Amino acid sequence: MSYYKVKDLENYFKMYKKSVREPRKFWDRIADENFVWYQRWDKVFEYDMQEAQFKWFLNAKVNITKNCIDRHLAKRGDKTAIIFEPNNPSEAAQHISYNELYVRVSKMANVLRDLGIKKGDRVCIYLPMIPDLAIAVLACARIGAIHSVVFAGFSAGALEARITDSDCKMVITSDGAYRGDKTINLKSIVDEALEKCPSVEKVLVVKRTNENVSMKDGRDIWAQPLLDAAMDNNVAEIMDAEDPLFILYTSGSTGKPKGMVHTTAGYMVYTAYTFKNVFNYEENDVYWCTADIGWITGHSYILYGPLLNGATTVIFEGVPSYPDFSRFWEVIEKHQVNQFYTAPTAIRALAKESIDYVQKFPLSSLKVIGSVGEPINEEAWHWYNDHVGGKRCPLVDTWWQTETGGIMVSPLPFITPTKPTYASLPLPGIQPVLMDELRNEIEGNQVTGSLCIKFPWPSIARTIWGDHQRYIDTYFKAFPGKYFTGDGALRDEVGYYRITGRVDDVIIVSGHNLGTAPIEDAINEHPAVAESAIVGFPHDIKGNALYGYVILKESGEYRNHDNLRKEINQLISDQVGPIAKLDKIQFVNGLPKTRSGKIMRRILRKIAEGDFSNFGDTSTLLNPEIVDEIKEGKI
Ligand code: PRX
Repeated sequence: MSYYKVKDLENYFKMYKKSVREPRKFWDRIADENFVWYQRWDKVFEYDMQEAQFKWFLNAKVNITKNCIDRHLAKRGDKTAIIFEPNNPSEAAQHISYNELYVRVSKMANVLRDLGIKKGDRVCIYLPMIPDLAIAVLACARIGAIHSVVFAGFSAGALEARITDSDCKMVITSDGAYRGDKTINLKSIVDEALEKCPSVEKVLVVKRTNENVSMKDGRDIWAQPLLDAAMDNNVAEIMDAEDPLFILYTSGSTGKPKGMVHTTAGYMVYTAYTFKNVFNYEENDVYWCTADIGWITGHSYILYGPLLNGATTVIFEGVPSYPDFSRFWEVIEKHQVNQFYTAPTAIRALAKESIDYVQKFPLSSLKVIGSVGEPINEEAWHWYNDHVGGKRCPLVDTWWQTETGGIMVSPLPFITPTKPTYASLPLPGIQPVLMDELRNEIEGNQVTGSLCIKFPWPSIARTIWGDHQRYIDTYFKAFPGKYFTGDGALRDEVGYYRITGRVDDVIIVSGHNLGTAPIEDAINEHPAVAESAIVGFPHDIKGNALYGYVILKESGEYRNHDNLRKEINQLISDQVGPIAKLDKIQFVNGLPKTRSGKIMRRILRKIAEGDFSNFGDTSTLLNPEIVDEIKEGKI
């Protein structure tokens, strides 16, 4: 009997028990059944939760692209691996077969090698959602270079910080990007970022929009002529199971972004296994995840998970609102999509528009619909379930994180009964626990607490690039011996989990994790600003929007000055990205602080929400009088 696919609810419980009682046997079998290895492992895993040391499939040798591409060629060479749906619906979609993917990845891998990229070098990829992005990622993995994909919506400042943190030797970008009715000159953003990045030797530029771009002599190279001339096959690098596969940055609650490091074999095994089970993918299905490859969702469930299973995966360049709000549904119909995976923020935005946009299409090809990135509220859940899933497609609300590499808690379609707003049950191999403030595990059901995972799984991040201590401090200190997720959760009477949201200083806006610190740093750079604090407040579409409290150096002069608000938002936009702009800015004379100087965000959050009912105990504040003042000045 195969362990790879859970068959029914009884089988799920059996597999789950097996994975907890005999995790070595469980993962050994899954890894053994489904992948090609140059060399097997000596041991399934080794770990130390205190020191955050994790090793999986020790001493195994493998290349993930052999498993994503080469292995399928005999049986699925002509099968479509990638469907590319361009931003503009009048541009033809492209179907890239596994054979063609092999050739394109090989060529790109050869180009990278010729340009001096070696195993272990870091390559930053800053590209729009076009096939070249997938190909660049896979080409890096082919030659053992560590890819660091930066979402192409990020600003020059954010890009620079990420390139510098991991000393990237090369950047792969494009002349421009299409996004709805806009064209963005990506290359000029790269140029700006590189003014401060001495480690970058080469910039490889793909053509997409035919923008006018400036090419720096000796540094910038057009990709196409090199690809045309490159050999169309490539011998994959032999990678150790624990060699890093990629770095992906995620916002922290403090300071600079954290470069989460994922390694090769564990990530491969876990993303493949979870893709197969969570989406119930069957041969010939067409699968579409609307995320960007610049996020973990795109890494694990547009590229690696689907390709490891020989699936057909859609890469969509556009946005849900262009040319109109029926775009998603039209694409589902056009490509007869069977599994559709998107984010609550997109669902809420589309649910606000006329129902005709979705009802125009039968959407009868759909079998499974999924949600990821933030808690899905009840209303959005029902809208998605009723109007998109037609009440017949299971809705998988998948909870996971950049750090976890793959989906952790989710219903399995046609197996786990779904319940609105509940991510439901942990996948086999995952051991969630809820912890109270005294660091005790909360037993039983109908309880809430801080969500931790008490046992390692194959795709747990291995470290933060260049700062292992920060990795330990952020995830393994709050609850010793456990991985702390930063989320709060509730466990219902049957053991289903509902994720209630972040309990730390990360705010999720339209599905993007924003740390408060980098945004406050940007605000504080304004010459008129003395100090600032931002909090989230509920927003119908974005889930949360940002509310900033700003203390000015000289009171009075700038008060309620709209220009100042614009300048502050411009600074944020330049340094963090437009997504982090504040919806509301209130100028204040002080911020509520504890005696140890910590800002009481809890109070600021309540004021931003307009909830003045109960501020809890404010007697410990250094300046309790400021609370009323801020309340009165609320905008
Ligand atoms: O707060 C949780 C929320 O998103 C956070 C992780 O964000 P990121 O690393 O960007 O990865 C997002 C895609 C995996 C989590 O700590 N989150 C993610 N999925 C859900 C969720 N919150 C509730 N329900 C979910 N299904």
